[in-house]
Amino acid sequence: MEETLHKRVIGQDKAVKAISCALCRAQVGLKNPDRPIARFIFPGPTGVGKTELAKSLASCYFGSEDYMIRFDMSEYMERHSRQAHWFTRMLATPRILEGGRVEVKEIADKMLSEVCKRLKYRDIKLQVTKRFKDKVAKEGYEPKYGARPLRRAFMRLLEDRLAERILMGEIRHEDSVILDANLDWSVTTFVN
Ligand SMILES: Nc1ncnc2c1ncn2[C@@H]1O[C@H](COP(=O)(O)OP(=O)(O)OP(=O)(O)O)[C@@H](O)[C@H]1O
Ligand SMILES: [Mg+2]
Repeated sequence: MEETLHKRVIGQDKAVKAISCALCRAQVGLKNPDRPIARFIFPGPTGVGKTELAKSLASCYFGSEDYMIRFDMSEYMERHSRQAHWFTRMLATPRILEGGRVEVKEIADKMLSEVCKRLKYRDIKLQVTKRFKDKVAKEGYEPKYGARPLRRAFMRLLEDRLAERILMGEIRHEDSVILDANLDWSVTTFVN
């Protein structure tokens, strides 16, 4: 279970472990059948993988991300509401998901392999240089937003560039593409 969750969620070991333990207890029938399997609250900064973890759990335990239900809790953030008071007190508990521990390069690698898989359907082979990966990781990471901007950096630097060239017919079936970042940080595409 832990391994499966870690296929999508990088780091955040404590949270992944806590979820896996709860599910194991349920699986072997050690838990009280009248109680829910578990309830977790994952407070933490934005973009560190809270939603990603919930989605991975829904998909690996219940079979699909569609089994996740989302409630909009934004009203709890209103300063003067009674809920806000309760919420603030609750947040005073130690944080489980920590921003500092998100390893951006690993997340970038995972996103890259997803794009590669999608390109494989089109018989296009993609490689990127280390300099390119560094560029994406650099542009896609903001301490304030965690790894959240990473997906957008990938879209801009990689997907948009490739999509344009595929549409123009410059990249075709069975091509091999290499993306590289130059010293001035512009990106070069090699096709053969
Ligand atoms: N630990 C992580 N492992 C894998 N991907 C991550 C991780 N943290 C962030 N990401 C990437 O960043 C994106 C944003 O993360 P996510 O939606 O989980 O943030 P969040 O913690 O729920 O933030 P918010 O508090 O704003 O809801 C994800 O779609 C995922 O691609
Ligand atoms: Mg979220």
